[in-house]
Amino acid sequence: VSVPVSAADQTLDPERLRRDFPSLTRTVNGRPLAYLDSASTSQRPSAVLAAMRRYAEEYTANVHRGVYTTAEEATAAYETARDRLAAWLGVAREEVVFVRNATEGLNLVAMAYGRWALRPGDAVLLTEMEHHSNLVPWQRLAEERELRLEFLPVTDGGELDLGRLDEQLGRGVRLAALTHVSNVLGTVNPVSEIAARCHAAGAMVVVDAAQSVPHMAVNVRDLGADFLVFSGHKMCGPTGIGVLVGRRDLLEAMPPFLTGGDMIRTVHLRSATWNDLPWKFEAGTPSIAGAIGLGAAVDYLTGVGMPQVSAHSALLSRQLAARLADLPGVTVYGSSRRLGVVSFNVNDIHPHDLASILDRHGVAIRAGHHCAQPLMERFGVPAMARASVYLYNDSRDLDRLVEGVADAQRIFGVGR
Ligand SMILES: Cc1ncc(COP(=O)(O)O)c(C=O)c1O
Repeated sequence: VSVPVSAADQTLDPERLRRDFPSLTRTVNGRPLAYLDSASTSQRPSAVLAAMRRYAEEYTANVHRGVYTTAEEATAAYETARDRLAAWLGVAREEVVFVRNATEGLNLVAMAYGRWALRPGDAVLLTEMEHHSNLVPWQRLAEERELRLEFLPVTDGGELDLGRLDEQLGRGVRLAALTHVSNVLGTVNPVSEIAARCHAAGAMVVVDAAQSVPHMAVNVRDLGADFLVFSGHKMCGPTGIGVLVGRRDLLEAMPPFLTGGDMIRTVHLRSATWNDLPWKFEAGTPSIAGAIGLGAAVDYLTGVGMPQVSAHSALLSRQLAARLADLPGVTVYGSSRRLGVVSFNVNDIHPHDLASILDRHGVAIRAGHHCAQPLMERFGVPAMARASVYLYNDSRDLDRLVEGVADAQRIFGVGR
């Protein structure tokens, strides 16, 4: 793509890429915006905004229904976006289902697959580092279907403790659902190894890839996922669109999730039959602009190069963790196997106060429980501050964060 700007940015040129993102040109409180909250939602490049605008201005129409020109163009653009995603993820197009976000994808798997396949007494294996989206749907299903929940523990170093995995799997686990990359610790979990052990024990594997797909090339087959979900808005795409990938034989066998228009083949007054894959799982008018925008995001990331994005996110987040850990009074959570995310606490300054002070510096980070309250309990804290990086961040954003942390310590009279 470009020439590196500093030793810290060997992998791609964030300064040049930043020009692709109109929302990053603004100032906040008199300073250029240092956006360090991409794990929450990423910024969108002009190419994505333009693709969505073209749909709005040139061929707005519903998909799959019309025989007129603009409807055919809309359908072609929507289905081409699916082809892009299928190729990107190494699966067949029939296995790519558009949903609203990762949360909806996980609810679909729990409510359509889990409710159909799991029997009272079966166990579901989760981990202590799951986002609420990969926890609460299983809790509800467990209550409804009388399932047991097992949890892989998290070590003090922020990694999954696999020491008792086989023993846990032996206790009737029929399905394991786990995150690929932790949205709090940044840990990249060894999913393919875990998936192989789950399959050997006869358990299906559901992967929450919300934090991995934006930062690394993910081949669903190589990973060993039977189902995998992610959101468009964390990978340069728009909000309101996400993807569920499911193994074709499972999607064919299981019942639909939402029902109504588009997902049917025939409807009579008292019965109905289902459409082919993937439309069986896409009830109602989908987010057409969202899918088109997401397809453009895949093209954009492919143009930059996923290996480059991955190396950049890993390098920058590891540098940030090391710089923060060097500051007196700062606790950094997580392991050296981190990708994109650094959570930390500064003395006893509440993360919300810290985030407000950083905002005065034009630095955007997130503070709170990060939709992972059990993980906060695990580490004995009510909340953490979290900085997350992406392809448009560089070491100057890290400098700004470190300066802001020092300012917060001065204001609170702690740390130095
Ligand atoms: C690991 C993980 N899973 C699931 C989600 C839920 O994503 P969404 O809110 O887009 O459904 C997030 C979002 O923060 C996440 O980080």
